[in-house]
This record gives sequence, structure tokens and C-alpha cells, in this order.
Amino acid sequence: MNTIDWKNLPFGYFKTDYNVRCYYKDGKWSDLDVTDNEYIQMHMAATCLHYGQEAFEGLKAFTGKDGSIRIFRLEENAKRLINSSIGLLMPQVPVELFKKAVLKAVELNKRFVPPYGEGASLYVRPLLIGTGAEVGVKPAKEYTFIVFVGPVGPYFKEGFKPVRMQIVRDFDRAAPLGTGYIKVGGNYAASLRAGERAHQEGFAAAIFLDAREKKYIDEAGPANFFGIKNNTYITPDSHSILPSITNMSLRALAEEIGMKVEQRHVPVEELSEFEETGACGTAAVISPISQIVDRDNGKVYNYCKDGKPGPMSVKLYNKLKAIQEGSEPDKFGWITIIK
Ligand code: PLP
Ligand code: COI
Repeated sequence: MNTIDWKNLPFGYFKTDYNVRCYYKDGKWSDLDVTDNEYIQMHMAATCLHYGQEAFEGLKAFTGKDGSIRIFRLEENAKRLINSSIGLLMPQVPVELFKKAVLKAVELNKRFVPPYGEGASLYVRPLLIGTGAEVGVKPAKEYTFIVFVGPVGPYFKEGFKPVRMQIVRDFDRAAPLGTGYIKVGGNYAASLRAGERAHQEGFAAAIFLDAREKKYIDEAGPANFFGIKNNTYITPDSHSILPSITNMSLRALAEEIGMKVEQRHVPVEELSEFEETGACGTAAVISPISQIVDRDNGKVYNYCKDGKPGPMSVKLYNKLKAIQEGSEPDKFGWITIIK
């Protein structure tokens, strides 16, 4: 194998040795199948291709300080995939099957888990798709569940450095009663134009507002938004954002370090009151935000005046990384260790 330049890995697809698959047919899941094939052969009328019956997950495995492989919040991701499958009328992947498939995919590709201290991780991407053929708009009768993995570096190329974000008002990512609360492909399709335009205009991501009133912060591209003021961690409460497992973890850590936590509507005007803002997610970890520009009215909100992440963001980031990499005890029980 060519040596991998762990320090310079992008966040992208990386071919590894194996992926793990499982098939749903006649009302039951098959045993796990292991393959080195990167392709899926499927019917051209598969519902995932036509009607978006597709959900995915994203989680990470790390090499701990002690050399063990550590998977972060495996069970929470399993539960969220179940919520996504309920939302799109797909069969549920039982938590135990999800865990078994992820553990197997990571174990079989152990040599791709970045070593401790390289600033990289193994990204795990479970995927559930309707593979049965239908032409009328209805759920498929057959499904495929796949877990593939690949080593990744930071999602925003800046890593843990402040990025600029752009508020968009001419696109919505998700409708108030739509599918924004689950991790399904359609939400990402709806976000592509705003996201690409934000990149072209010099921003790391588009920030979407609530679709009904355009008053509140909703989602920060592929991540949740948070703001910090008066020793309080504040993050949107919205039915159209993904319940981020990273955000859930940061709320627990914020409380642990003595901050108050508020999950509520975050009005756009409040951006001028925050001392720090950031985006959080598995891929993004914490991405501190240096500047938010409201594209339609030109309003500008600045943070990180010295160009560095704010002190509370640094504290939360370090705590999260320490638990993920095992340099702090896992007192919340978030880690699954592969022996
Ligand atoms: N919001 C969106 C739209 C996402 O794609 C993600 C990534 O998974 C998140 C938020 C963060 O969620 P998590 O922390 O569970 O990765
Ligand atoms: C993640 O953070 O896991 C994501 O899925 C974000 C993006 C790559 C879709």
C-alpha cells in the first residue's frame, strides 16, 4: 500500500479495502455481506433513484492515545437512521444490525484508521436505499443497507480555523413540515445551489433561515449553528434542522464546564449580540465562524476579531476531541472501543 499522507487528507471519498452490505427482502434483513466492490448493481426503477428513498449517516472512528480504535456515538447514529427510515417509509435497520455492520466495516479497514495525533479520522458512511422497482409513487419492497468508510481530514479546509458564512434568503433547505429533521438526500439536493453559490462568493457555507418567516437561524450548511454569549451556549430549536449528535454532545460538555445551555429560536438580529459563533457536526466538528454576511441586505456580523477561535469554542473543541481520542475519560459512555 502506498503510504497515506494523513496530515493532508481532504474530506472526500477514499477507496478502502471492503464495504459491508445487507439486503431487505420479503420483510426481513439478510446476513451481512462483505465485498470489495465499490459499485451497486440495481434496478433502473429503484425508488432511491426516482423518489428519493435514501437516508444516510455519518460518524467517525479515531485512534486513541492508547492505540485502540474508538467509535463516537455509534448508538445515536443508529437511532437517527431509524428516525430517517420512519420518515421515508423505509424498513428500520435494527440498532444491533447497524452496530454490527459499522464495527465490521471499521475492523476490516483498520489500516485506514488514521494514527493518533495526525488530526484525521475514519469517516463512516452508512447508507439505506430503496432498491425495489416501482414506477408509481410508493415505497419500495426491497432495500439495501451499506456501510463504507474512508480516512478524512477536516470538512472545511481551514480545519479548526474561523470561516466566513453567508445567510441566504432566496433558497430554503427544508420546509417547516418537510424532511429537514432527518438525514435524507433530498435535503442536500435542495441545499446544493445555495451552497455552491456561497463557495463561489468566498464563503465556507450557506446559512439557511426558517422557511416560514425568515426570522430565525436554521441550519449552517451541513452542520448545526451555535452562538455563545454571557457564558451561554445557544443553538436553534427547529423541526427543519438535523438533530446533530455533535451538537447534543457539545450541549452536555457546555453544561459540564459550567455554561448555561439554551435550545430555542435564534433571531437573526441576535447575531450582533454573540461573542462567538460556530457550526458543528461530525464532519465539521466545530468550525468557528469569523464573519456572517446577510447576502440580501448586506448586514455583516464579525467574530474572532484577532483571527482566532473564541475561548469557549476552543474549550469545547478540546474537550470533545479529548473524549473522542481517549485523552479524557469517557464519562458519558459515548465511545465504542474496538479491541
Ligand atoms: N446538519 C446537517 C444538515 C448535517 O448534514 C449534519 C451532519 O451530519 C449535521 C447537521 C451535524 O450532525 P452530526 O453532528 O450528527 O454529524
Ligand atoms: C456529517 O457531518 O457527517 C455530514 O454528513 C455532513 C456532510 C458531509 C453531509
